[in-house]
Amino acid sequence: MIVTTTKLFKCAYGKYAIGAYNINNLEQTVGLFRGCLDSKAPFILQFSQGARKYTDKLFLEAIVRAADQVYPEAIFAVHLDHGDEATCYDCIDSGFYSSVMIDASHFPFDEKAALAQEGGPLDKNGKPGGTKEDARLYNNIAITRRVADRAHAKGISVEAELGQLGGVEEHVVGTVKLTNPAEAKDFVTRSGCDSLAVAIGTSHGAFKFKAEPGKKLGLHFEVVTEIKKLLPGFPMVLHGSSSVPKSEVDRINAAGGKIKDSSGVPEEDLAKAGKMGVCKVNIDTDGRLVWTRVHRELFRDMPEKFDLRDFGKPFIAEYAKMIAGKNQMLGSAGHLEEVRAALKKA
Ligand code: G3H
Ligand code: 13P
Ligand code: ZN
Repeated sequence: MIVTTTKLFKCAYGKYAIGAYNINNLEQTVGLFRGCLDSKAPFILQFSQGARKYTDKLFLEAIVRAADQVYPEAIFAVHLDHGDEATCYDCIDSGFYSSVMIDASHFPFDEKAALAQEGGPLDKNGKPGGTKEDARLYNNIAITRRVADRAHAKGISVEAELGQLGGVEEHVVGTVKLTNPAEAKDFVTRSGCDSLAVAIGTSHGAFKFKAEPGKKLGLHFEVVTEIKKLLPGFPMVLHGSSSVPKSEVDRINAAGGKIKDSSGVPEEDLAKAGKMGVCKVNIDTDGRLVWTRVHRELFRDMPEKFDLRDFGKPFIAEYAKMIAGKNQMLGSAGHLEEVRAALKKA
């Protein structure tokens, strides 16, 4: 059953976080549903813009609608990850997505900031050289407000982002800028978003905590505490939350991989965040590592095989195991029936 993230967050707030898993194909989808049902957890299935372009967005929709029929007990949200404005509208109008993320965090905070910005306002593509009218239209609050108005008219939830993660996003090459809690309160009130992705020191990918002079490694929980104080009950979201297990990277490298100097978010930090108002924890990289480890080891160990199902089947099983483990760690495991009961009551 597809539900909005807002409904899931109401059940989870302050108690546990819900895993939001990036999906690109059938094998991942089957592993995800199996892992979440094995651990009896509600979950969020999310597609990036890159995933939608990898084959065709319609294949993804068909796969998930089929999974919803094959696994009727599952309760999940279908979410657009890191959407630009046009992609958000496409998802809102599709009748399939129950939640979208508008990521306008690389635009100035509001019109005033856009006008005051060094180099002047940005244009609609986020490039310098914008006009006064661009400053009014293309700032984080204005863009998020437009998306929220269109999404809410169709009962769809909206995640926005304030601050900037480190690492590389699809359309954002980020340098870390932690979320400012006072701005977060102002932003939520003026933009109408339903949840907020906060920058507290995480970054995307497999190389999260590179030592740099003067940089504090680890998560800035004080930002989460302050936002919770200013916005009680408002769901926060953590991106860049893969743990990049050393054991997994070592196995990949032992089977011919070359992943060096990787690091991820300690699992205990994610579990802690789940009790502090972080309701959604995004995990993509750890799933990619499982795929790479399974395939590298099997290619090495079964050189005579060439039936793709001999590789796909073990991947599905290992991916499901990883997902179930994540749900245990985040605390969402075991809450499926409670969420079902809450949805029935509402
Ligand atoms: O935030 C980024 C996600 O890991 C999605 O990655 O854009 O390569 O699909 P992708
Ligand atoms: P990871 O790269 O840490 O898995 O983060 C994924 C993410 O934030 C997707 O939006
Ligand atoms: Zn992200």
